[in-house]
Amino acid sequence: MTFKPIRKAVFPVAGLGTRFLPATKAIPKEMLPVVDRPLIQYAVDEAREAGIEQMIFVTGRGKSAIEDHFDIAFELERTMAERGKDLSVLDPTRLGPGACAYVRQQEPMGLGHAIWCARDIVGDEPFAIFLPDEFMHGTTGCMAQMVQAYNETGGNIISVLEVPQDKVSSYGVIAPGEEKGALTEVTGLVEKPAVADAPSNKIISGRYILQPEVMRVLENQEKGAGGEIQLTDAMAQMIGDQPFHAVTFDGKRYDCGSVAGYVEANLALALEREDIGEEVREKAAELLA
Ligand code: G1P
Repeated sequence: MTFKPIRKAVFPVAGLGTRFLPATKAIPKEMLPVVDRPLIQYAVDEAREAGIEQMIFVTGRGKSAIEDHFDIAFELERTMAERGKDLSVLDPTRLGPGACAYVRQQEPMGLGHAIWCARDIVGDEPFAIFLPDEFMHGTTGCMAQMVQAYNETGGNIISVLEVPQDKVSSYGVIAPGEEKGALTEVTGLVEKPAVADAPSNKIISGRYILQPEVMRVLENQEKGAGGEIQLTDAMAQMIGDQPFHAVTFDGKRYDCGSVAGYVEANLALALEREDIGEEVREKAAELLA
């Protein structure tokens, strides 16, 4: 069976980023670099690798640096060209007409509401969602792995990973059904449960492939955990009506929503780099000695 291809991705990027103040007072947290690429760039690259063609950003006030980042920087490019500099470093940053769209979430009403803000651009087709502060790093990207699974199962797919039981209350948690390799059937979903109520320690890790019906569900979704309209609650209502699976990502996840996770991602990516890895390793060893 063939399923409708995943052509569009939604990036909810309206969050205030208060955990990274003062760095995020005037720049969006999604523009913080891991080594020398902004977080949002990694997410867009991961989407492209998975065959996604249109990037839909749900932004808010103070987020215009994201639009500038994915535009053509005319003065910069002309000056670099005149000086004979290599412009290829900018190639992944240009999202041409049709390859991107921006819509605003005017008030912070939750992730579910942010996704719903993109409903008209998503239209009537399955789509992906990326939470850019979940930084997924692997030889094959997380979304590419999910699209592979989607091509077998169709329906809805979320990425999951295991965390220590005492950490589950910060996340959406799945009730797992049958397991087949990296694929787990999802029989229930709960957003930020108390440790004692959590159905497992498998948490939703910021990547989704969802059917467009989720937009209809979100339309009437009541406030949930934290007084916000939760995507997890809307997804939970779709279980039973449509196939729902979780993919355990074969790769490494860095929680760039926390300062320590962000520093870890920077160190890990710097150590992997051919140009600076060796030098960083020596400096890190000195600091740890
Ligand atoms: C959101 C989702 C949650 C998911 C998490 C991953 O929560 O609501 O289900 O597990 O992202 O980072 P937030 O981090 O916005 O509180």
